[in-house]
Amino acid sequence: DEHKLASSLNHRCFYFNELPSTNAFLLKHVSELTSGDICIAEYQSAGRGRRGRSWVSPYGCHLYCSMYWKLEQGMSHASGLSLVVACSLVKVLQSFGIDDLGVKWPNDIYLNNKKLAGVLIEMSGQADSECHLVVGIGINISMSQSQGDKIDQAWSDLSANPSCPSKTDLAIALQKQLHQDFYTFEQLGLKAFLARWQEVDVFFGKRVKLLMGDNQIEGICKGVDESGALLLETDEGIKAFVGGEISLRSA
Ligand code: BTN
Repeated sequence: DEHKLASSLNHRCFYFNELPSTNAFLLKHVSELTSGDICIAEYQSAGRGRRGRSWVSPYGCHLYCSMYWKLEQGMSHASGLSLVVACSLVKVLQSFGIDDLGVKWPNDIYLNNKKLAGVLIEMSGQADSECHLVVGIGINISMSQSQGDKIDQAWSDLSANPSCPSKTDLAIALQKQLHQDFYTFEQLGLKAFLARWQEVDVFFGKRVKLLMGDNQIEGICKGVDESGALLLETDEGIKAFVGGEISLRSA
C-alpha cells in the first residue's frame, strides 16, 4: 500500500507507522516541502484537535493525514479554507458512493448524523506574504464503539458502509481533490465552493443557536458568505459570524 501511495501521487508522501502528530511533522519541515506533499501515520501519540483539544488516534482505526500548502497571498487570504477542505472531503467520499453526508459549519463532516471526520488547519508565516499551511484530516474508518466511547460524541464508522474504500485509495483521492480544490480556491476564492457547501449544509434553512462564550444568538441559518462567515437571520436582520470559539446547535 505504501508503494501504491508513492506511485499514484505526483507529490511526496511521508508515511509512518507512528508519529506524535502528522500536522506537527509537516509544520516542523515546512521549509523542505512543496505544496501537495502529504504525511500519513497509522497511529498518533499526540494527535491534535481543534480548540487545543487532543485527538484520540488509536492504531489503524482512522485515516490520519495532513497536507502541506504554501499560500502565496498570506494568512489573511486563508479564511474560508476549512470550508473548502470539508467540500473536498465530501466530494471524495461521494465519488466512492458514500451518500448521506453532511457538513456543519465551519468544517465537521457527518455521515448519517454522526461525526465522521474532523479538520484542523495550522499555519505559520505572515499575514500578507507567503504563509505555510498544514491541513490535517482525521477520518473514522473503523473505530469500535468502545474506543469511540473515550471520545464524548457519537461517531460514524465508515467501514460499516458497503462502499467503504481502502485507506490507501481514500488518501490518494483526497490528496488529488485537495490539490485541485486549493488551486481553484487560490484562483477564484470561496465563491467557487458556495453551491457545493450549501448542498450538504446540515443547518441550512434551520433555526440554530450559536454559542459564543457566555452569549447565545438564535436565528435561521442562511449558509455562509464569500469569506466563510456564517450567516444568520436574526430579529435584527442578517448577521455574519466568523470562526473561533463558536459552536452551533439546532435550536
Ligand atoms: C477536530 O477537532 O475536529 C479536528 C481533528 C483533526 C485531526 C487530524 S488527524 C491528522 C492531523 N494530525 C493531527 O494531529 N490532527 C489532524
